[in-house]
Amino acid sequence: MINQLETIKSRAQMELELIKDISGLEAWRVRYLGKKSDLTQVLRGLATLSIEERKSVGSAANQLKIMLEEIFILKEKALQETLLLAAGAKETVDITLPGRRPPIGHIHPITQTIEEICSIFSSMGFQIMDGPEVELEEFNFDALNIPEGHPSRDNMSSSWIDYTDETGKRPMLLRTHCTSNSARAIAKMKPPVRVLTPGKVYRYEASDATHTSMFHQFDGIAVDKNITMADLKGTLYEFVKRFFGENRKARFRCDFFPFVEPGVELSIECAVCKGSGCPLCHNSGWLEVGGAGMTHPEVLRHAGLDPEEYRSFAFGIGIERLPMLRYGIDDIRLFYSGDLRFLRQF
Ligand code: DAH
Repeated sequence: MINQLETIKSRAQMELELIKDISGLEAWRVRYLGKKSDLTQVLRGLATLSIEERKSVGSAANQLKIMLEEIFILKEKALQETLLLAAGAKETVDITLPGRRPPIGHIHPITQTIEEICSIFSSMGFQIMDGPEVELEEFNFDALNIPEGHPSRDNMSSSWIDYTDETGKRPMLLRTHCTSNSARAIAKMKPPVRVLTPGKVYRYEASDATHTSMFHQFDGIAVDKNITMADLKGTLYEFVKRFFGENRKARFRCDFFPFVEPGVELSIECAVCKGSGCPLCHNSGWLEVGGAGMTHPEVLRHAGLDPEEYRSFAFGIGIERLPMLRYGIDDIRLFYSGDLRFLRQF
């Protein structure tokens, strides 16, 4: 029996060495310490032995039992530790790996264009100003020689808002052009004035490749004693050269705007055909980018300025068209689509 206990002991130790997981260990426990194990059988059979044998076998069997229980507990601890370590290794952070860069955005192409325009005009002495997008009827129309019932109001119909303050009900609208800012500037400032106002404008119209109900403009106005049309021409031609390059031609042609007299349209040489005629410019070789002129005496009078004393020029140019012409973008809606494949190119 003592021999049998020795065999159990060496087998149990050997097998325990090879165990790699908890379920293996549990099977081992059942095999060597369970109710049906050889050791339990030996302990149960003690009663059948003589007193002499019972003593020696009994104490050897009990010692073996204690020893097996001890090595079981040790093995269990060791296994738990290695398992914990292995789990920890999966979550370990490799601090030598280079970090992942968070995606960094950049300035929208329209904002980039506005910044460029502002820097060109500020270098020519223009002050950059802002004005409200929800504008009083007075500055959007009346102050600009567009009284109620004037047909040019219809061309620029926008969204109206009923606004009431302490002076009563005053109609407001989403401004249809930035010229309202110029009207505000000259009403507030003392000449000499040179102001440029870029911003969003709104028109009630369906969108297509060249129209959106919201777009951007910049309007400029200069007021001083001896201003002439030559100053206007010099200023805008200089702008075209600086924005599109030294060799890009610009031209003025007569046009009508209620707030200027004489009024002109500003066109630049077609970016695609360089003036020889193509579908983009409808074979004319020129592309219209905005309007300009000598500020109408009525507009100066409305701002409290004497048209006999002061002269003024003004201009208003659409912003989206400028990068469209520069980069050959054929759909204005791309600017507002939020499509990163488009935006990342700028
Ligand atoms: N406000 C005009 C428009 O949106 C453009 C314009 C024309 C502005 C002539 C001006 C100007 O300041 O003098 O169509």
